[in-house]
Amino acid sequence: MALRQLRLGVNIDHVATVRNARGGAHPDPVTAAKLAIEAGADGITAHLREDRRHIRDEDISRLRALSRPLNLEMAATGEMQAIALKTRPHAVCIVPERREERTTEGGLDAAGQMTALAPFVAKLNDAGIRVSLFIAAEASQIEAAAKLRAPVIEIHTGGWCEALAHGDSAASDREWRRIVAGTQQAASLGLEVHAGHGLTYESAEAIAALPQIAELNIGHFLIGEAISGGLAAAIKTMRAAMDRGRAKAS
Ligand code: PXP
Repeated sequence: MALRQLRLGVNIDHVATVRNARGGAHPDPVTAAKLAIEAGADGITAHLREDRRHIRDEDISRLRALSRPLNLEMAATGEMQAIALKTRPHAVCIVPERREERTTEGGLDAAGQMTALAPFVAKLNDAGIRVSLFIAAEASQIEAAAKLRAPVIEIHTGGWCEALAHGDSAASDREWRRIVAGTQQAASLGLEVHAGHGLTYESAEAIAALPQIAELNIGHFLIGEAISGGLAAAIKTMRAAMDRGRAKAS
């Protein structure tokens, strides 16, 4: 029997990273989100960080108005909860956040933070927002997610992808086995399973074979590929604009 198509959530954070490098409005992450939807993305993912280093509050309200579901990644803070309750995205993915990190380095310690997370998750559940917890594929974290009544977990694939990138097959095999066991455990507990972080064409193809996984969230690699694939076209358009300007003056 054919499996259901795997959903693709496109994370557009790094379009905002490039925009913010110059402080203007270009490139616009919402334009990128529209392009992603046209190209077949099932949803848009954006991480509103406490320091607003890429996505900003106004991006979130504009992304919310698009035709596809918005998956808002955020830390479990009062400020973010208020934003989620006001904006009402389709889904919230709760991630750990440390100011000094370059990206979300580890999974959420759902097992260690049960007391704080329980009312936080309950409030979002009550508001009809689909809650996902970004966790490592560890038995105790998966059990905690089920106890917290989060309907979804997103498995952190960063360690596996890093091991693949370094050609460390012992580590990548170990991480892969953890992911397989984690997805099976989560599905048996009735959780919907998503995965993401560091995914590339090769790793996405490999993980797509796991039938329990319903959605992948992918950002950095796609934005990198967009630069490789789109730079030549942008340069040709610029060359043509310069040549037109010269031709008019001569
Ligand atoms: N999923 C979550 C929960 C994340 O925090 C991130 C990174 O923001 C991603 C997926 C996407 O990771 P990447 O940008 O490495 O594809």
